[in-house]
Amino acid sequence: MCGIVGFVSRSTPAVGPLVNGLRRLEYRGYDSAGVALEGTAGIKVYKQTGKVAELDKLLKSALKTEAESGEYAVGIAHTRWATHGLPTRANAHPHVADDGRLALVHNGIIENYAALRAGLEKRSIKFISQTDTEVLAHLIAAFDKGDFLAAVSQALKQVEGTYGIASISARHPGEMIVARKGSPLVIGLGEGETVVASDVSAIVARTRQVVYLKDGDIARITPEGVQIYSLDNAPVSRDVQQVDWDLGAIEKGGFEHFMLKEIHEQPDALRNTIRGRIDRQGATAILAGLNLSPRDLAAIRRLVVIGCGTSLHAGMVGKYLFESLADLPTSPEQAAEFRYSNPIVGPDDWAVALSQSGETADTLAAVRESIRKGALVSGLCNVVGSTIAREAGRGVYLHAGPEISVASTKAFTAQVTAMLLMALKMGRTRRLSHEEGVRIASEIERIPDLVADVIREEDEIARIAAKYAHADDMFFIGRGILYPAALEGALKIKEIAYVHAEGYQAAELKHGPIALLSAQTPVVALLADIPGKEKTVGNVQECRARQAPVVGVATKGDDDAAAQVDDVIFVPRTIPEISPIVSVVALQLFAYHVARLRGCEIDQPRNLAKSVTVE
Ligand code: G6P
Repeated sequence: MCGIVGFVSRSTPAVGPLVNGLRRLEYRGYDSAGVALEGTAGIKVYKQTGKVAELDKLLKSALKTEAESGEYAVGIAHTRWATHGLPTRANAHPHVADDGRLALVHNGIIENYAALRAGLEKRSIKFISQTDTEVLAHLIAAFDKGDFLAAVSQALKQVEGTYGIASISARHPGEMIVARKGSPLVIGLGEGETVVASDVSAIVARTRQVVYLKDGDIARITPEGVQIYSLDNAPVSRDVQQVDWDLGAIEKGGFEHFMLKEIHEQPDALRNTIRGRIDRQGATAILAGLNLSPRDLAAIRRLVVIGCGTSLHAGMVGKYLFESLADLPTSPEQAAEFRYSNPIVGPDDWAVALSQSGETADTLAAVRESIRKGALVSGLCNVVGSTIAREAGRGVYLHAGPEISVASTKAFTAQVTAMLLMALKMGRTRRLSHEEGVRIASEIERIPDLVADVIREEDEIARIAAKYAHADDMFFIGRGILYPAALEGALKIKEIAYVHAEGYQAAELKHGPIALLSAQTPVVALLADIPGKEKTVGNVQECRARQAPVVGVATKGDDDAAAQVDDVIFVPRTIPEISPIVSVVALQLFAYHVARLRGCEIDQPRNLAKSVTVE
């Protein structure tokens, strides 16, 4: 969603670092962009609808010479994903107040903005945008009696809602005030320069020394570094951390798209998820971050797995893993539903929040609600230091490396792998025998190679994708542990290829959706070898009897299943618990090639955001 970059230096021109930072945030999804620069001549604001490249053109023509851009060593920049008001230039950030002397960028939503705006309008303050953010800019200006940080604190105390903000003022040259509540902000400490961003990927090109702000923090940023306070003006200290990956991890490395790169990275990513986590002797998993003793695990009566989007689908796979390996009743929960349902969770329950970004607003709220109700809470996140990981206090990091493509791929397979490790550990404290544990553990160790086998089928998958790329409607069916895999296959193709797709439990097709089948509606059937596969093969027959062409994803060597479908994608033989991983990798490649042939913008699909930080 929206992205923030800020830059403060004594002499380095801010415009380059700001635009480069915005480029690194493009993957999050946005519809307009803008920059405010502060120099001796005051503050200048440039905004543009559409892509950062358009904004860059505007800046290049406005600041023609190096000397011109060298005048501005402080600046803030933003990519906006519209919430309040259309994606127009007027609604793009930064927003200004104090006759253009103050500029502000904001992520999040100010819920009481209408009341605040009415109050300001009564004082004859004129608004030029429809956004909630502009209200905050005017409030800060109204409170500014000479101390910028105090003015921002006072303004924020009036605000209900969520924010990550960065503000500069010509009245306070050379400093920037930033604050967060519910929307992440990271500060990068460079040599004679300080960088701020809503996402660490916009910082690593300049420094890898970072400080993560916590909710309720407000900070003064200068070229020398950062001073952090609470909103009540008490100094607080936050650790400086070292980012442990470099720029290469967030570049395309020769692939046409980030999505394709991330699909191909999966064998390595999953090796990292598994590394050091298998205890061969005990036939169990080592997950120190969970910080749960066998007694703690044995006391758990129910598992609640919470997530949104692809993470929810991974959580749905978790139900089968924990129920089959650990005899643990498991309910997958859509986070927004969970948080508002007055959920029944308590001390006997283990709530596990799945989130690639660790910042999804609804998932975070579900974590907080579970903590309030006394449940044991863990995070299963990819982004180290993310809010969910920190607030859950215990958990398992995926170690899949940065995921840039909006459509999630390696996070899904890493989440399922991490849950498999958790289910193994849990199972071994319960009824899973040593022998069974050994069998599961050694198959987990094969996951990276199994995924590499699927990726080797890419040419064949691309050939089949070409045959179906024209279809505007598709169905994905599966049962048991492959039912959530069908949902994930449908989601991928909706997200990146804009194909209307429905994921169904295979038996459910007969209860209505079969009415829609025709020769124009391909069905992708998940037929890997799991209990109940023959029943799905039966459902395939029902589809073909309605002339729907069928693509099967089947286990290598399963000629019987292959004979029942029009086209087959083979995946390697494995245990049922791992079948969603290999099947989904095939579906990721299928969706990717359909999208490519349809000429879609694969890494940044329309209307979508990588990290959904509003409800
Ligand atoms: C957005 C992304 C999805 C992602 C979902 C949950 O909708 O576009 O790809 O699955 O958020 O994100 P999370 O970071 O919590 O896994």
